[in-house]
Amino acid sequence: MQIKTVMVIGAGQMGSGIAQVFAQSNFDVKLNDISEASLEKGIASIEKNLNRSVQKGRLTEVEKVEIMERLSTTTSLQDASDCDLVIEAVVENMDVKGKVFKQLDEITPAHAILASNTSSLPITEIAAVTNRPEKVIGMHFMNPVPVMKLVEIIRGLATSDETYEAIETTTKALGKTPVEVNDFPGFVSNRVLMPMINEAIYTVYEGVATPEAVDEVMKLGMNHPMGPLQLADFIGLDTCLYIMEVLHEGFGDSKYRPCPLLRKYVKAGWLGKKSGRGFYIYG
Ligand code: CAA
Ligand code: NAD
Repeated sequence: MQIKTVMVIGAGQMGSGIAQVFAQSNFDVKLNDISEASLEKGIASIEKNLNRSVQKGRLTEVEKVEIMERLSTTTSLQDASDCDLVIEAVVENMDVKGKVFKQLDEITPAHAILASNTSSLPITEIAAVTNRPEKVIGMHFMNPVPVMKLVEIIRGLATSDETYEAIETTTKALGKTPVEVNDFPGFVSNRVLMPMINEAIYTVYEGVATPEAVDEVMKLGMNHPMGPLQLADFIGLDTCLYIMEVLHEGFGDSKYRPCPLLRKYVKAGWLGKKSGRGFYIYG
């Protein structure tokens, strides 16, 4: 099947990056959000990234304009009625995602594939709210999307081979590398990454070291590009907490219990870089 028109739902840090890479790879992209302000912010961040590429000589001004012309914005899900692929990147919450997928199942054409960029929620459960579970799949991009090469592709229990192959081909068309995984809490990426971040938060909580010291140990000692607390701020502390909760509930194992300090920061509205404060303060 040929994918030409794509809708990305959620214009936050992930959705805007996903929309950018699709538009850069010649797809027509509709960016959807419930908030006009998020759409404006998302488009502004795409334009900023493209301007940087023009300055660096990777893109001409004409190519930039063509990419921007392939992008449109909308607050109406009804505009998905002519889309071949929809990628959902709204908040990491099953109720919200379930509602979006139920509506999409009614609005989109029968051939359309419905993908989720969820970090950890079960694809099988998201698929079950639709009448087309064979066309529902996880397409998990990494942050920042324009830079990171991986797309973790998650097969739900009912995902068909045809759907998998269409998403694998599309991932390659974006210049990214697909890796196939099965549907278990946190998949591979966040089952391995998030307990490390949570443990780093515990070391701060227990007074073992300051956030700066923890990050320095992991950057200089393990050659990580960012320390785990800087990375947690970058991902969003709300998203980190949601993922830990999915791991904790999904496996029923106390080793995944979210650190109380993480809960406290999220309750305070300290969500990391996007809210201006997390383990660090942002200007
Ligand atoms: N959007 C677009 N481009 C960005 C960007 C952003 N938010 N941040 C950085 N870049 C680009 C820069 O423009 C720069 O590109 P050019 O110089 O070629 O124009 C390039 O990335 C390198 O940036 P910098 O030189 O400023 O900084 P850096 O070398 O430290 O790299 C980084 C920045 C790529 C983000 C690097 O710090 C890194 O790899 N960090 C770890 C990222 C990571 O682990 N991501 C996975 C998070 S987990 C996840 O996504 C899954 C989940 O479900 C939570
Ligand atoms: P974000 O908070 O930056 O953006 C979420 C956006 O969704 C907001 O603009 C919000 O207005 C919009 N939204 C909420 N409900 C909506 C609805 N019903 N319809 C349309 N738009 C709606 O979040 P994010 O960091 O971009 O994360 C989005 C998804 O991507 C989550 O599932 C998250 O787990 C996943 N993810 C995040 C990262 C990361 O590093 N932050 C990495 C990979 C995957």
